[in-house]
Amino acid sequence: MPAEPRKPVEVKLLTGGQGPRPKRPQGPGRVTLVGAGPGDPELLTLKAVRALGTADVVLFDDLIGDGILDFVHRKARCLAVGKRGGRASCKQGDIEDLMVQFARAGKHVVRLKSGDPMIFGRAGEEIERLRREGIAVEVVPGITAALAMAASLGLSLTHRDHARSVRFITGHSRHGTLPDDLDWRNLADPATTLVIYMGGRTAPDLAARLVGGGLDPATPAVAVRALGRAAERHWRGPLAQLPAGVGLLGLEEPLLIAIGTALQAAGKAEDAAPIVQYFNQNIRYSG
Ligand SMILES: C[S@@+](CC[C@H](N)C(=O)[O-])C[C@H]1O[C@@H](n2cnc3c(N)ncnc32)[C@H](O)[C@@H]1O
Repeated sequence: MPAEPRKPVEVKLLTGGQGPRPKRPQGPGRVTLVGAGPGDPELLTLKAVRALGTADVVLFDDLIGDGILDFVHRKARCLAVGKRGGRASCKQGDIEDLMVQFARAGKHVVRLKSGDPMIFGRAGEEIERLRREGIAVEVVPGITAALAMAASLGLSLTHRDHARSVRFITGHSRHGTLPDDLDWRNLADPATTLVIYMGGRTAPDLAARLVGGGLDPATPAVAVRALGRAAERHWRGPLAQLPAGVGLLGLEEPLLIAIGTALQAAGKAEDAAPIVQYFNQNIRYSG
């Protein structure tokens, strides 16, 4: 269901850089799209930290983790321009207009996005608009949720005994349903690790389509909620039980799903990890 529009909200930073602002070369305004990673500020790149510390204006998304805005200088203007499936969201056009307005006024604008800006982050549209307007734009990559999940679970998405490829898929079309132009037979490949972004609400349909396409219902699946934050929780089980697993984790926090035989290896590394996890729907605490 399309979310209601909301207006960007200006946020006053109580923390953040306070010393003299590092000098930046005078010149025309510009925009840097910065990947904030999955949530943990320690996963920011040095380049991202430098961009945050020197920005005049920061336009940030809802999924930005706690502590990341601490790197923004207190004198910078900070605007929340979040968009979340099923919630009140800022219009993409309004966000682009703000970037253009501030850059035209000579400001260095940081557009801060969760994960990596180039993965399901609408960076393509923003870059096109800025280029059309003649505004310089640079991209600072971040750690996308799929790679943060692999690190957190201690599993290789391309384990050489199991997977030949990885595919990042969206589980959410602009109508709120699974995209209807995915090739399910092709996706139902046991030698591919599938990582599904924005797939929480459509998990039942996703599991049914993959099994319908020929994937074994016993194929290992993982769902991870709120990677890199205090609320992080994992569920692991067979594909057939994925909808129930997602139900246990809930839809309040961002949720990432992965499916494929490479995930078999996850158990060994996870057993040693000091995290709370749901395993085959029995709540089990370790560490
Ligand atoms: C609009 S996409 C943005 C993806 C982002 N650009 C990236 O590279 O990770 C939002 C989706 O990414 C996934 N996601 C992003 N951050 C996450 C996190 N911290 N924990 C779990 N999933 C996350 C979820 O599937 C969420 O619905």
